[in-house]
Formats: sequence, structure tokens, C-alpha cells
Amino acid sequence: MIETKTNDLTFSTLDKDAGLKAAIGTKPADVIGTISDSALKGRGGAGFPAGFKWKLAAEAESDEKFVICNADEGEPGTFKDRLLLSDFADLVFEGMTIGGFAIGAKSGILYLRAEYTYLLAHLEDVLAKRREENLLGENILGKGFDFDIRIQMGAGAYICGEESALIESLEGQRGEPRNRPPFPVEDGFKHKATIVNNVETLCWAAAVMSKGAKWFKSAGTEQSAGFKLLSISGDIANPGVYEIEFGTKISDILHMAGCECEKGTPCKVKAIQIGGASGICVPAKDIGRKIAFEDIATGGSIIVFGQDRDMLHVAKNFLEFFVEESCGQCTPCREGNVVLLDGVELLEEGKCSMKYLNELVSLGETMKVASKCGLGQTSARAFLSIVKHFKDEIMGREPISV
Ligand SMILES: Cc1cc2nc3c(=O)[nH]c(=O)nc-3n(C[C@H](O)[C@H](O)[C@H](O)COP(=O)(O)O)c2cc1C
Ligand code: SF4
Repeated sequence: MIETKTNDLTFSTLDKDAGLKAAIGTKPADVIGTISDSALKGRGGAGFPAGFKWKLAAEAESDEKFVICNADEGEPGTFKDRLLLSDFADLVFEGMTIGGFAIGAKSGILYLRAEYTYLLAHLEDVLAKRREENLLGENILGKGFDFDIRIQMGAGAYICGEESALIESLEGQRGEPRNRPPFPVEDGFKHKATIVNNVETLCWAAAVMSKGAKWFKSAGTEQSAGFKLLSISGDIANPGVYEIEFGTKISDILHMAGCECEKGTPCKVKAIQIGGASGICVPAKDIGRKIAFEDIATGGSIIVFGQDRDMLHVAKNFLEFFVEESCGQCTPCREGNVVLLDGVELLEEGKCSMKYLNELVSLGETMKVASKCGLGQTSARAFLSIVKHFKDEIMGREPISV
């Protein structure tokens, strides 16, 4: 088992399956009402309201419905779902079962990141135990509700975390995003109504059913209710998984993970990448900003860069990732990432003019709006924010004499 530093997690305080017991003692519409009242938003990154997603799937006309737990966790710097799968697997399956009850599904699928194959045996054991305890299978807890869960492995592609590519992959096709609409809630796995939720979202849904919508909504901010798990890594003393309340300042998060600049030592942080490779790079001067959907949203990845990090190298690293991971379906993403990476290499050699840098910025902005899916719509963000905040550093290279 990998040791992960963490603070006190709400999930450790919950009574086992209290949320499921509360849910199946009511009606599906009541469960959706409670999740909606809690204002829980998806923790996978996009922040779509969970209750509304479940309502749409519950109302969809479909002879079969599915619950998919997105455990692909491919965003660089994100490893909070790994902790949930290893330490709180019962809670993940509880959340899926509650989702199944709410939308009228009998089947759930956990799509597990290929790199997490080592967790498979543990997860299968937890599933088997839940079947023995009548928390899965037929007539769950004697309430006439049938639901079971299976696990399907991913194959290592970042794009398969995008929900429609994930569904294609589950169906045995190449993992490429679908045209949307229609959305999975009405036309998902096997073209049936499907909810796709992040691992953490499902855990919070179970927590909400256990502790109540009011408890959850009273934490966080007006537009970002509740709590968020963060995976903190990079140049920081205590990397790990930490729970915060939405609205927490970046500076407080850094101190939580061992940054000591408050104690009088000079700040060693140069920048913080929030949201992984597809997120934004925040310079140290902006550590007063907050983690919240209305300020800086994140699926959970926080990567700290110390003073001696080369920000152009950071941009290059992320762009290499996107060139590799683009599915190639649409031109702005397939070609755009390659052109941005070529531009970074020109910058490295001191051969990029300000005029060309501006063209690269304009290309990045175009990719945001012209790409087909979230990968291409976000892949230029790190580059753009590094250009914005570290222009002097990236333009200051010595031209290489040839
Ligand atoms: C390229 C790409 C990769 C993604 N990877 C993940 C992932 O690993 N896990 C995840 O939960 N969501 C991921 N998402 C977001 C999903 O498409 C989807 O919005 C999410 O699973 C919905 O769950 P939520 O509403 O509970 O957040 C990704 C999106 C994109 C565009
Ligand atoms: S944006 Fe990129 S990953 Fe998404 S469909 Fe287009 S090429 Fe594929």
C-alpha cells in the first residue's frame, strides 16, 4: 500500500452504509431532492450539479439505466481517487448504489484506471463482501431494490476519462469522445440513460445521504458547497491528499502541506499548477486566491513549483503530454498542441519573436473554443497562463548559435 499523507477526512467519520440505509428507506425522488438540496457539484472537474444529472437520468425514457463510476483518474498530479478506492471502497460502492436507486438503474460499472490494476483484487473483495451483506444483488436490505456492480479496466489513455470516450471504451470501441448532445443521461452506455460520476462525487453523495443536505450546504461558499479533496504534490514538504472546505485560500493549502513561509522563512514557491496539466498556473503572488468554482476550480490536482523550476520546461512537459494524449479526432487539438510544442522549442532556443508568441497565444485561445472535447478545450491553459505570468522568464533565452 502506498503511504499518503492526509489530514482529518470527513469520510473517516461516517457510519458504514448509513447513507444507503437512509436512501432506500425513502423514494428515489426524495434522494434526488436531498442531493439537489445539498448543492453537491461534480468533483471530476466540470462541477456539474449532481442532483440535476441524476434527475435528468431518472426522467429519461430508457428500458435500462446505468451508473458509471469514473475511476480513470488520469489528470497529472491527481491521486485523491486512488486514496478513496484503497481506503474507502465501501463508500464508493455505497454512492454508486444510492445513484442506482435514485435513477432506477440495476447495474453499475466502475471504470478503473489501468495503472490502478493493483487495486482490483481489493475492490473485488469489497464487492463480494457487500454481496454477502445484501448491500448488493437482489432485494437489497429487503427493500425490493436490485443492483450490482462490476469493474472494467481502462487501458491507459487519458482521453478515456472524458465521459463519452469512457463509454466508447466500455463498449469495446476506440476511446474517442462522442458528439454531444445527446448527453449520457439520455444516451449513454449501450445508448441507454447513464450517469457518469467521479469517485469523489459518489462518496460525497453517500455522505450527504448520511449526514443531510443542510450539513453539506452549510460548508463551503455560496456557489461551491461542501468539501473537496486535493492531491498536493511537487516542491512541498508534505505532499498528499488533503480535505479542504471550498473557499480555502491557496496560501492556507500550502501551509497545510508544509510550506513554512509564514514562520519567517522566505517563500520558496514560484508557482502553483491548479487542476493538473489541463489547469492553470498561478504565480506565487496570487496565493490569496481561493479554491472554489467561482474562483479557481479544480478536479483536485495541486502541483507546487519551487523557485528554481524552469517555467518554460513546465509548459513543455504539459504540452508533450497533450500531443501524446490527443485522440486526433479534431484539428484544433491534434495540430494545435503540436504547433504550441514547436513554439515552446523555439522559445527554448531563443528563436521565438514576440509577434510569433502572440500568434501562439491566439492559437491557444482558438483551441479553447474550437476543440471538440474538454481535452483540446483545456490543453493550452497551462501554456497561456505561463506566458501571461512568466513572459520575461520564457522570452529571456539566449539564441542558440547554429
Ligand atoms: C480529457 C478528460 C479527462 C477526464 N478525466 C476524468 C477522470 O479521470 N475522472 C473523472 O471523474 N472525470 C474526468 N473527466 C471529466 C468527465 O468527462 C466527467 O465530466 C466526470 O466524470 C463527471 O463526473 P462528476 O460530475 O461527478 O464530476 C475528464 C474530462 C476530460 C475532458
Ligand atoms: S479535442 Fe482532442 S481529444 Fe478531444 S476530440 Fe478533439 S482531438 Fe480528440
